[in-house]
Amino acid sequence: MFENKRVLVTGADGFIGSHLTEALIEQKAQVRALAFYNSFNHWGWLEEISKCHPVEVVTGDIRDVTTCRRIMKDIDIVFHLASLISIPYSYLAPESYVATNVMGTTHLCQAAIEYKVERFVHISTSEVYGSAKYIPMDENHPLQPQSPYSASKIGSESIAMSYFYAFGLPVTVIRPFNTYGPRQSPRAIISSFITQLVEGKTQLSVGNVSPKRDFTFVSDTCHAFLLLAQSQQAIGEIINVGTGTQISIQKLAEKIALLMGGQIELVQELIRMRPNTSEVDQLCCNPEKLKKITSFHPQISLEEGLEKTIEWFLEHRSEHKVGLYHV
Ligand SMILES: NC(=O)c1ccc[n+]([C@@H]2O[C@H](COP(=O)([O-])OP(=O)(O)OC[C@H]3O[C@@H](n4cnc5c(N)ncnc54)[C@H](O)[C@@H]3O)[C@@H](O)[C@H]2O)c1
Repeated sequence: MFENKRVLVTGADGFIGSHLTEALIEQKAQVRALAFYNSFNHWGWLEEISKCHPVEVVTGDIRDVTTCRRIMKDIDIVFHLASLISIPYSYLAPESYVATNVMGTTHLCQAAIEYKVERFVHISTSEVYGSAKYIPMDENHPLQPQSPYSASKIGSESIAMSYFYAFGLPVTVIRPFNTYGPRQSPRAIISSFITQLVEGKTQLSVGNVSPKRDFTFVSDTCHAFLLLAQSQQAIGEIINVGTGTQISIQKLAEKIALLMGGQIELVQELIRMRPNTSEVDQLCCNPEKLKKITSFHPQISLEEGLEKTIEWFLEHRSEHKVGLYHV
């Protein structure tokens, strides 16, 4: 379905976007990959990919209307992943979350209408649900903006859906639960544990260890995105992507330590804790709607995914800022 389709991936320089770009190239799509403009002309994770694969890299900023129109020209399908995603940073810089996530999405939707794109796949997040009121959480679970990040993603997915209802833009909103794998920021929980163990630490700095999360390996997440983009039934729909299983942060740390052969002690650090009422205690996906529409089934178990992620971080150990907690 993607052969010779002109596909725009925003956030292609990032963790999930770079894997999605590779998956689309494998499907013979003609990919235009947006990397966030910076004066170093650094394309993030696209640096490696673009050396070996046919991909049109464009740089820009989705806060800019002209950029969004420029990158949308001649595009058939959009995967919109560009976003500010760090929850701790959203406490420090909330306005930039609204500017990037809400306004950026508005600019892209408007440009997509003008250029009559076939499909606009908007990547939201399970964080829009806040702490589970029931599990597993289906798409009808109430939305609770427990952080400015969550609020901005609620705003951005609402804008995308409004373009479906008001202007007929063929929108699909996807709410992935936690995704992990190679190239993820060391700020994220799994990469944080792995990088600390790679540094040789036995006392691991953590935030809250009781919350539970539902983790999907990045290739499975991307596979779900591709399946949903091809489904007519997914137009005008909001769909969860997750496994339907959950694990606490404490248990996750123990599992990773076991795989890396280390004894660990978890040390809570205030800087890594969310304020109590902002902490999301539990996120566990009900993936029934996804399975009904696409017959999706995750291929990579948590153990297998963790092993692949550990291997990657061991190979790339020199690329991370040792001992630094970056929000
Ligand atoms: N990682 C997860 O567990 C997870 C879970 C659910 C949803 N998501 C969603 O998936 C998407 C990708 O997340 P990720 O984990 O790959 O994060 P990431 O930070 O690696 O990727 C986001 C990318 O957006 C780009 N970006 C930020 N501001 C921009 C701007 N103004 N203009 C252009 N580009 C800009 C950044 O350069 C970055 O590469 C996000 O929309 C996020 O909300 C991620």
